[in-house]
Amino acid sequence: MINIDIENDSCIKCGRCVKVCPTVIFGQETAKSEVDIHHIETCISCGHCVSVCPTGSVIHSDFPPQKVHKIDADLLASPEQVMALIKSRRSYRAFSKQAIPIEVLEQILEAAHSAPTAENLQQVQFTLVTDPEVLHKVSAATISIFSSIVTKVYNPLIKPLVKLVNPEGYKQVSHLRDLVDDFTNAKKDRILRGSTALILIHTPKDVRFGRQDANLAYQNGSLMAESLGVGQFYTGFICAASDMVKKSPVAKLLNIEGTIHAGMALGMPTFEYPNYVNKKDIVITRF
Ligand SMILES: Cc1cc2nc3c(=O)[nH]c(=O)nc-3n(C[C@H](O)[C@H](O)[C@H](O)COP(=O)(O)O)c2cc1C
Repeated sequence: MINIDIENDSCIKCGRCVKVCPTVIFGQETAKSEVDIHHIETCISCGHCVSVCPTGSVIHSDFPPQKVHKIDADLLASPEQVMALIKSRRSYRAFSKQAIPIEVLEQILEAAHSAPTAENLQQVQFTLVTDPEVLHKVSAATISIFSSIVTKVYNPLIKPLVKLVNPEGYKQVSHLRDLVDDFTNAKKDRILRGSTALILIHTPKDVRFGRQDANLAYQNGSLMAESLGVGQFYTGFICAASDMVKKSPVAKLLNIEGTIHAGMALGMPTFEYPNYVNKKDIVITRF
């Protein structure tokens, strides 16, 4: 049960809490009049009222003093630094065997967890895998899904039909066959590519905007990884494989209840990139 109060002695009645609250819990009859509080039950605990108050006068049961932090402007990155970080981030695929220190992984997780979520639901969960055996099992489980699709599509009775009706889909399946062959025959893992850690980002089933929430978390985490000198790439194959079946064997293997939306394979890079390149020309439609 949430409790919210205003400390009237210190409140300067600036009305900022009234302006920022997304569920209109705070009200003021006139500018500079006392702030009143209505229907607390609609509070989504976003903490805007507490963050914006210049005098610490909003008392919120979800945000006791130890959960409220002064923003240190000196620590904030400049626009040039933010842009440089964004442009130098790459998907790394050449990792050393050196383990990523756990404190570093925790910083990446903290950055990911700090991303916004729809309605501030904060239902995004993380599964961290660093055990090499389990990492291998995740790749193998992903490959097993692709393998069963390849077997179905390459059935001599079905193959000509798929080729005719869905040539693009057939091409995709031939890529999957290459992945399966590499994994099974060449012992080459193109799912996790020698990464030493995996972060899977998931939500309970049927969380509205779960996919969006997870991908925002991913991007926060990936930029944090870049700033820490840790290489990462998006594990699209694991996510795609999980989407192809009712109960994902990766989810089963890792006791993940719900839906895997995003995944980050991580490792210490064996070398740095001295350059960045431009993306294709930006497309902006203006009105
Ligand atoms: C949704 C998504 C899925 C991806 N899946 C994979 C993947 O399974 N394996 C991989 O090596 N890279 C994967 N990538 C990385 C892309 O190939 C990469 O982002 C793209 O080539 C651009 O390179 P950059 O990230 O270095 O800028 C994925 C990226 C996204 C956004």
